[in-house]
Amino acid sequence: MITWREEMAVGVPAIDDDHKALIGIINEFESCQTRTCAERAAKKLYAYTRSHFRREEAIQASFNYPDRERQAAEHAQIAANLETLIKTAFLGKSRSDSDVIADITKLMRQWIVDHVIKHDLKMRPFFRKIQRPEDFFLPPLVSKIGIGPAHHHP
Ligand SMILES: [Fe+2]
Repeated sequence: MITWREEMAVGVPAIDDDHKALIGIINEFESCQTRTCAERAAKKLYAYTRSHFRREEAIQASFNYPDRERQAAEHAQIAANLETLIKTAFLGKSRSDSDVIADITKLMRQWIVDHVIKHDLKMRPFFRKIQRPEDFFLPPLVSKIGIGPAHHHP
């Protein structure tokens, strides 16, 4: 099990809540005893990861975050890796479900921790500089973020 810690906080509630949710789904995956449970959790993780990345990219775009192109490329890479992992996870018949689940858990953790610690935390100083705390409370749905403040705060 991994636990979200304050040191992981980017400072944007919508992003931090997503990261907590992603960690929760990985923990759910890890606690699965059966293949059916694991497959369900893996699909949920994939779907949530995709929507989180879209949300994060929308937030970065609306604030003109400078590193957003590179971040988007990394997101696409993580999503592709995760998709391949999920599709191929249980193909080999020789290993027990619990071994497969343990291995995949390790990779999922590595990706989410890398994503948050190596990339997302770089956003913290940027968003901390923004003086308008109300800007942090962006709508939770990606579709609504599209109309966010593009040049609100010079
Ligand atoms: Fe993120």
